[in-house]
Amino acid sequence: MTNSTAPLLDIAALYKLFPLGHKPSLFARARGAAKPVPHLHAVDNVNFQIMRGETMGLVGESGCGKSTLVRLITRLLDPSDGRIRLNGEEIGHMPAKGFGSSPYRPRIQMVFQDATDSLNPRYTAFDAIADPIHRLKPLPKAKLKARVEELADLCGLPQALLSRFPHQLSGGQKARVGIARAIAVDPELLILDEPTAALDVSVQVVILQLLESLKQRLGMSYLFVSHDLNVVRLLCDRVMVMYLGKIVEIGPAEAVFRQPRHPYTQALLSAIPHFEPGVESTRVRLGGEPRSPVDPSPNVCRFYGRCPKGEAACETTMPQLRPMAPQHQAACHLAQPDPDLLREVA
Ligand SMILES: Nc1ncnc2c1ncn2[C@@H]1O[C@H](COP(=O)(O)OP(=O)(O)OP(=O)(O)O)[C@@H](O)[C@H]1O
Ligand SMILES: [Mg+2]
Repeated sequence: MTNSTAPLLDIAALYKLFPLGHKPSLFARARGAAKPVPHLHAVDNVNFQIMRGETMGLVGESGCGKSTLVRLITRLLDPSDGRIRLNGEEIGHMPAKGFGSSPYRPRIQMVFQDATDSLNPRYTAFDAIADPIHRLKPLPKAKLKARVEELADLCGLPQALLSRFPHQLSGGQKARVGIARAIAVDPELLILDEPTAALDVSVQVVILQLLESLKQRLGMSYLFVSHDLNVVRLLCDRVMVMYLGKIVEIGPAEAVFRQPRHPYTQALLSAIPHFEPGVESTRVRLGGEPRSPVDPSPNVCRFYGRCPKGEAACETTMPQLRPMAPQHQAACHLAQPDPDLLREVA
């Protein structure tokens, strides 16, 4: 039984630390001469939920940990610690190696950034779409053909192209094959990691419209990773902003874009060009160097040093996410919650 008000995806205290360098030898450890291995904190105590039918956006600069988070959720990577629950069932503890053959695999699917890389060059479009269906449950030939054609129609891929190999398809057509393949096994959660980054602008629009209409028709939830903030604003119900492995702001997309609370979000959004006449964009330029993600101090805000507002507390206490407005949280000592919210809490 699924409970429609319970989150579809529930991520709690999730970590991924990559060791840098080799483990010290047994001999070195026995002599007490082993130096601790440094770790890169790619995902560092991340908590969030995605509800049924919701589109959650994930934004943040290159290297902040978006793809690592996605790879943890799709169970291509094992977490260092934390919980990943799908429909209340723990899937984070299952080794990534065995996840591909588990009954949970079809329920989370992924659309990759570059369809060219993710499609097997020796598979026709038909084979690529049929493959996940066949792996889940072999179907008689006629039924499989009918299902693949149905998926091609759903994704706007002419059936005449099903016999073509990836190199015989355009970027937009390959994107449609990638999407048809991802939805072939009726996933509940579709994860899109920069799904249109490799396409030119006019094709991007068409593919985004396709994704939006598929979501309405099939009732899936999306986790949508993108550098294109205008697209995130249009497509997403809520948005999370990530900075050096941590979620620094999360809230309804409309609220985050209208009134960003974290100085990093403010800087990120100030870079969006405005085309409306009379609207001036005052771009916040960040100075300083990003802090290192290798063994970062647990007490210093990750944005300290680059933050235009940083003060003493930021160097001694890691800010935690706290309410700013209804359903809107930010992790900054200096962010101001709505006065109404403070009255409600008091
Ligand atoms: N297998 C790995 N081993 C060691 N470090 C890794 C590994 N995979 C990722 N990282 C590091 O983890 C951090 C997060 O990388 P990730 O690919 O998740 O960033 P991203 O936000 O997806 O960036 P982009 O926007 O460029 O795609 C980076 O510092 C990266 O170098
Ligand atoms: Mg990435």
